Amino acid sequence: MWKDRVIGGEIISEYLMEARKLTKEFEVSVGMFKSRAKIRAVDEVSFGIKEGEQIALVGESGCGKSTLGRLLLGLIKPSSGQILYKGRNIWRLSRKEFEEFRRNAQIIPQNPYDALNPTKKLSAALIPQILRHKIAKGRSEARKMALDLLEMVGLSPPEDFIDRYPSRLSGGQMQRVVIARAISVKPQFIVADEAVSMLDASLRVEILDMMHKIGEELKTTFLLITHDLGVARYFAKNGKIAIMYLGDIVEIGETEEIIRNPLHPYTKALLAAIPVPDPKIARERKSIPLKSIDVPSLLKPISGCKFHTRCPYAIEDCEKIKPELRLVGNRWVACHLT
Ligand SMILES: Nc1ncnc2c1ncn2[C@@H]1O[C@H](COP(=O)(O)OP(=O)(O)O)[C@@H](O)[C@H]1O
Ligand SMILES: [Mg+2]
Repeated sequence: MWKDRVIGGEIISEYLMEARKLTKEFEVSVGMFKSRAKIRAVDEVSFGIKEGEQIALVGESGCGKSTLGRLLLGLIKPSSGQILYKGRNIWRLSRKEFEEFRRNAQIIPQNPYDALNPTKKLSAALIPQILRHKIAKGRSEARKMALDLLEMVGLSPPEDFIDRYPSRLSGGQMQRVVIARAISVKPQFIVADEAVSMLDASLRVEILDMMHKIGEELKTTFLLITHDLGVARYFAKNGKIAIMYLGDIVEIGETEEIIRNPLHPYTKALLAAIPVPDPKIARERKSIPLKSIDVPSLLKPISGCKFHTRCPYAIEDCEKIKPELRLVGNRWVACHLT
């Protein structure tokens, strides 16, 4: 699903970040005797994210979202396939180029408590990396920048916060600091992995709004990982949604199009689970009876389309042939029936 332009022997990708047949296998131990088995957390995933795009990656727990996010950031190595940053394979970059990529690709993790050192003041969480990446000329400029960042993420007045320890902050405030730290090095790409799932509903909206605004103002490309389609829709209102199921991306397209007219049966099922104000739409959505509500285990590979064991529309081909992502109108769908 990519278009290449080759100029002077260099591949020019139209995407900022791109996955090509990206696969990650993990070895796990199973059962009483701890026998070794392999699972495919990410299974030949191909897709691209354009510069400035805000995209939400959605799927049930265990379907491989975090693994895909970590692969895109270069935090773990793929078993096979490629990750391209501006058209270049990140695992073939020189050391210096790889460091530059890592600065440009930041993570906002789920749990801010793990991300911040409790023995260090916020100044120490922000200033050293601004200096290390030469974003500021000296210490006083870096401190000024740190204050601006705190203000930007809504910790105001920042002078009241910069010399505090994380233990004196609420969960929501800590998540703001983590966001400030991620944007402090002026990255082009940010993966926010379930960054709001530990927060209560009203805070969640505030933080999503803030990330959305930062994305637009700083022109940062954002991938928000979430198990909650409602959160995905809210964050990526002007962007895209990618739906993941057992290691595959099964549908990807513009958010409102996906919400209004989901094409993949799995997307339909996910949508049926979120409340909608319009009763007519709600009735149509409810009429998708899954054959099973349980997510199958990755330990037993499923032939053909991995969703066939739960899909009410599955035909014989679905058990045998794995559907590839195909362009349908303006969107990509992996289903034999669309
Ligand atoms: N480091 C690891 N070692 C072994 N298995 C892993 C590891 N990381 C993830 N997994 C497995 O890979 C699958 C996908 O996990 P993950 O990417 O965390 O899913 P999600 O973020 O969608 O919940 C799960 O079955 C998980 O147990
Ligand atoms: Mg996860």
